[in-house]
Amino acid sequence: MSDSAHASAVDPDRSTILVTGAGGQLGAAVVEAAARRGIDAVGLGRAELDVTDAARVLELVEGMRPAAVVHCAAWTDVDGAEADREGAFRVNEAGSRAVAQACRATGAHLVAVSTDYVFPGTAPEGYAEGDATGPINVYGESKLAGEAAIRDELGDAACIARTAWLFSAQAPNFVQTIARAARDRDALDVVDDQRGNPTWCGHLADALLTCAVDRIGGTHHLVDGPEATWRDLAAAVVEELGLECEVRPTTSDAYPRPAKRAAVSVLRVTDPRTPAMGEWRDGVRASLAPRVDVG
Ligand SMILES: NC(=O)c1ccc[n+]([C@@H]2O[C@H](COP(=O)([O-])OP(=O)(O)OC[C@H]3O[C@@H](n4cnc5c(N)ncnc54)[C@H](OP(=O)(O)O)[C@@H]3O)[C@@H](O)[C@H]2O)c1
Repeated sequence: MSDSAHASAVDPDRSTILVTGAGGQLGAAVVEAAARRGIDAVGLGRAELDVTDAARVLELVEGMRPAAVVHCAAWTDVDGAEADREGAFRVNEAGSRAVAQACRATGAHLVAVSTDYVFPGTAPEGYAEGDATGPINVYGESKLAGEAAIRDELGDAACIARTAWLFSAQAPNFVQTIARAARDRDALDVVDDQRGNPTWCGHLADALLTCAVDRIGGTHHLVDGPEATWRDLAAAVVEELGLECEVRPTTSDAYPRPAKRAAVSVLRVTDPRTPAMGEWRDGVRASLAPRVDVG
């Protein structure tokens, strides 16, 4: 694609942001954050826009002509991907390519969400944006293939936003699972040998919108700080809820699962253009607070 072809397709009056996967926890948070910031966003769930239907994706994006697409739709069942490799690649690789092609055809800026699972998870210091990838499970392979498809279509004009360990008020996610379990039990055993960056969808949604509005391109790590283990995160949930439940450390070996998990999922940020994120502890508090609908 030439730069001029891209630029000529951009209409300065276009302001709508299309959000794919809006039925999921992150897509819903992006739509919510856009409403809060007065940004015009249209969120579509799988029933309205199945990203594996490339013709439909193109037709819809051509009809809507959004300024940007925040692509949150994905196959996110990490263990399930081991049993259905083709299904995971259909959504995460082919679906991402379809979205990128539609963006290329219309000049929409693409912000696509990727994952820490593109890395092997063995480097003690974690991973910077340019570090060598090497997924250890099918989900990670399919997301890495999605990144490659997007770069193939759009080069560095597209924003690839890698994130990790997402949670929000919208179950299911780790924070909500622990909150429910801790209310019923006196003690929980939680894995303490995996380190990563728990990240609140609210912080990420704001950063993704900034990438969309400012047309930030390239590969970025969008995660909350500081790094933590699953046990640290569970202990914070219990503390925020004021419960007595003991959170005991255990190891990954105690919970064998179909897909391998990385010991180190820490994502380091070295690009000064990357929008600021927040502290996950604030996100835990927000995710557990009773929701008040302001009319
Ligand atoms: N969750 C995490 O910890 C985590 C960590 C790193 C990166 N990420 C990435 O963050 C993004 C958002 O994840 P999330 O946590 O919001 O996951 P989520 O809650 O599972 O949301 C994903 C959404 O995508 C939808 N979807 C699946 N296949 C689709 C298709 N063919 N067409 C359109 N929509 C489809 C799902 O719909 P159904 O419910 O109908 O299947 C679901 O609503 C994904 O790119 C994910 O890979 C997540």
